[in-house]
Amino acid sequence: MYKSPSRLSEPARQKVAETLNARLVDGLDLHSQIKVAHWNIKGPQFAALHPLFEEFAVSLANHNDNIAERAVTLGARVYGTVRHVAQKSRLPEYPQETARDVEHVKLLAERFDTYLEGLRESRSLSEEQGDTDSVDLITGIITEFEKHGWFLRASLEG
Ligand SMILES: [Fe+2]
Repeated sequence: MYKSPSRLSEPARQKVAETLNARLVDGLDLHSQIKVAHWNIKGPQFAALHPLFEEFAVSLANHNDNIAERAVTLGARVYGTVRHVAQKSRLPEYPQETARDVEHVKLLAERFDTYLEGLRESRSLSEEQGDTDSVDLITGIITEFEKHGWFLRASLEG
């Protein structure tokens, strides 16, 4: 671990950074999956969903950056190459042959749930380690991705 401006102990910083690295991996994987959906989507809801998926991707890219930089701030290294992500992500692979709009919505909604599960675990761990700043960062992402999940589910209903 490198020196850090954080007041947390080194073991605490290490544990939080480890969980942040896990969320970075999931987030990078999810980002690529959202883009695949954005590119391949076809169907009556294309006009609404194509830009919506892009909005999700842009917001997630920003969160991934913040997660990575929080881990580095805590004195850790971050790992995020495509090869590393492919080995470590908790998300299932995206069925890239999918075309139909509602299918993409369903697949992304499931993956948002998986991403959120990981974020909640990371938040609990950060809470246990007394890292309220990481808790705050993660809570912001959870709030936003729960909202994105609602957007997706709302377009499946009715
Ligand atoms: Fe695009």
